[in-house]
Amino acid sequence: MPQYLIHPSPRLSGEVSISTAKNAVLPILAAALLTHEEVIIHQVPNLTDTRHMLEILQVCGAETSMEGGHVRIRALSVGSPRENPLLRTMRASVLIMGPLAARNGQCILSMPGGCAIGQRPIDLHLKGLQKLGARVELDGGVASVTGQLKGANIYLDFPSVGATENLVMAAVLAKGVTRIENAAKEPEIADLCHFLTAMGARIAGIGTNNIMIEGVEHLHGAEYTPIPDRIEAGTLACAAALTDGSVLLSGARSDHMRALLFKLSESGVICQEDERGLRLRGRARHPMEARTLSYPGFPTDMQAPLMVVATQTHGLSVFLETIFENRYMHVVELNRLGAQIRVEGQLALIQGGKALTGANVTATDLRAAAALMLAGLIAQGETRMDDPGGHLMRGYEGLEEKLSALGADCRKIQEEG
Ligand code: UD1
Repeated sequence: MPQYLIHPSPRLSGEVSISTAKNAVLPILAAALLTHEEVIIHQVPNLTDTRHMLEILQVCGAETSMEGGHVRIRALSVGSPRENPLLRTMRASVLIMGPLAARNGQCILSMPGGCAIGQRPIDLHLKGLQKLGARVELDGGVASVTGQLKGANIYLDFPSVGATENLVMAAVLAKGVTRIENAAKEPEIADLCHFLTAMGARIAGIGTNNIMIEGVEHLHGAEYTPIPDRIEAGTLACAAALTDGSVLLSGARSDHMRALLFKLSESGVICQEDERGLRLRGRARHPMEARTLSYPGFPTDMQAPLMVVATQTHGLSVFLETIFENRYMHVVELNRLGAQIRVEGQLALIQGGKALTGANVTATDLRAAAALMLAGLIAQGETRMDDPGGHLMRGYEGLEEKLSALGADCRKIQEEG
């Protein structure tokens, strides 16, 4: 089981570079199934999730290789993974559904797994595919999607990130025009659309709530570098804000991080964007209010890391989680370290200004793991974080190493297995 040891950190200072975004890379890898030509993706982060996605593509019949972050994929012919256990290792495995249905007129796969942060149904993905003309059957946790896809008007009842991505990927090879209304507009979705465009797809309204896709006969190979990870950058920004740091997050895209930077600035942190990335100076002092929303609102993935910052400001902070129903699992562990946080349904009330003390804590999901590591940086004494699910390595490329490069004392003391 991965285990991390964290000691109180001095002010973080220096420069680290931001990896490419896991949440952009995963759909882009899935999209490689849409063509029989070679696709090359650069700077793919070395994460459990990206490795799992490559293995899933192999199960679907693709040849893949990864060398120094450069991934090559060639899917000469593709087939369904059916009930392969790999599908249950991560939620994003569902993203192969759109590409397989579009290319083969058939996709059979078992329901995805992933972090236990909520029910995470895939009804919006399936209803959208039905709109595109597919026959959808569910039997014993296995979804079967069959039929040639045709363009259609789709309204998403909620702007789901995954459903938007799946439906865009399904529509690029469907006959005719597809319109997706109330689509999600996270930067990772725009990035996927730019990649699909590089493959020959015709997409309008990229980065908006109304996406229009004109189906084409074939897509061709492409070479692409995905966007930097706004959540990794945001997590490191919170670490800087906790330690009165002075850091440069090179490559970070401030334009993708407005909601978080607004919160940090209001709280007293100096956030400056320049051509090299994002510079942060100073400490968060004032309490904050944060309501998680779809992009460009405050991201649910930053809720746990920002909550750690709120524990160290003076006064009462109020957080409202509206995206996932079970995303306060880090609260029990933060309270174990001495934080005073009360959860009332979707609300979390954080009484700031309490000194934290190191203890043994357990990571329950990806962003909870990151939050606990940040808490360890400011807790007196030693914090030992058990990560039985290997969550941190699923989504952060060496977070402990990047923090150490900025002067923090945190390290992995046990590997997987
Ligand atoms: C993606 C991100 C994840 C982020 C989330 C919200 C990836 C790989 N993961 O997850 O890091 O936290 O967006 O920004 O990109 N829902 C339904 N039915 C559906 C689909 C979703 O009810 O068919 C609900 C979910 O249960 C959840 C909410 O909609 O409550 C948001 O989910 P969604 O936007 O789909 O998130 P993911 O794509 O799973």
